[in-house]
Amino acid sequence: MKLKNKIVLITGGGSGLGREMGLTFAREGATIGVNDIRPESAQNVVTEIERAGGKARPFVADVANSSAVKKMFADFIAAFGTIDVLINNAGIGRTRESSEVIPTHEKSDEDWHKMLATHLDSTFFCTREALKVMIPKGAGRIVNLGSIAGTTGLAFAADYCAAKGGIISFTKSVAREVVGLGILVNCIAPGFIDTPMTAPIEAEMRQQVIAATPIGRFGEPSDIAAAALYLSCDDSKFMVGQVISPNGGFVI
Ligand SMILES: NC(=O)c1ccc[n+]([C@@H]2O[C@H](COP(=O)([O-])OP(=O)(O)OC[C@H]3O[C@@H](n4cnc5c(N)ncnc54)[C@H](O)[C@@H]3O)[C@@H](O)[C@H]2O)c1
Repeated sequence: MKLKNKIVLITGGGSGLGREMGLTFAREGATIGVNDIRPESAQNVVTEIERAGGKARPFVADVANSSAVKKMFADFIAAFGTIDVLINNAGIGRTRESSEVIPTHEKSDEDWHKMLATHLDSTFFCTREALKVMIPKGAGRIVNLGSIAGTTGLAFAADYCAAKGGIISFTKSVAREVVGLGILVNCIAPGFIDTPMTAPIEAEMRQQVIAATPIGRFGEPSDIAAAALYLSCDDSKFMVGQVISPNGGFVI
């Protein structure tokens, strides 16, 4: 088992990639804190992990909120005593209920702040709290979810792309800062993966994405969970501030 007795917190763990990482990491011996803003989603994944014989507990919090993150970490450390791995995964694909595409000149201040807060603020808030525990013990792993959107840009998603680009730069900076303290920080920049986040993509757009992806399909959550497992265990002990991008060749 690659994560035997490790204590892991996965933000946005109630769906899609976070859910798959929780199930995968639990099979590898880790105890999982499943964070989500949606209580039912977090609980459902905890139940799935437990039914498969693993250990997990829900931590319901909005990770875009600094004080909510502080409270979540206090609860997490009270429950488990430490944190070995933090996966900054929580995210949103759009800022409004409707699936309408919003051009940059029509995005509101609220759209912008919500997107940046959900991805970038949350990554900072959770990293800060995790480091307070990891630095004194001289060990830890942090894996941030970027995106190919943060490396190539995507039309009509400047807010999402700015957040993901920010996460990539944040990863590189913090990685340099804490590697000497025994903590490794890396990033995954997935291509298009089949999850509830990408489900609303319309058929025509989906075909365009597939046509632009040399492997000819969307990825599966397990493709990203495998990368997250690698970056969370000893196999990646020489990886510092890297961005690995399972994307089917969308970006080469
Ligand atoms: N699916 C893809 O194609 C893809 C590609 C690149 C990057 N990503 C990134 O991977 C991550 C996971 O995406 P996914 O596809 O699994 O999406 P998803 O919608 O299936 O899951 C995201 C989860 O995050 C939770 N969440 C949202 N805001 C939150 C908040 N403020 N606090 C706590 N939880 C919150 C949601 O409730 C949801 O359960 C995101 O950061 C996303 O941007 C996804």
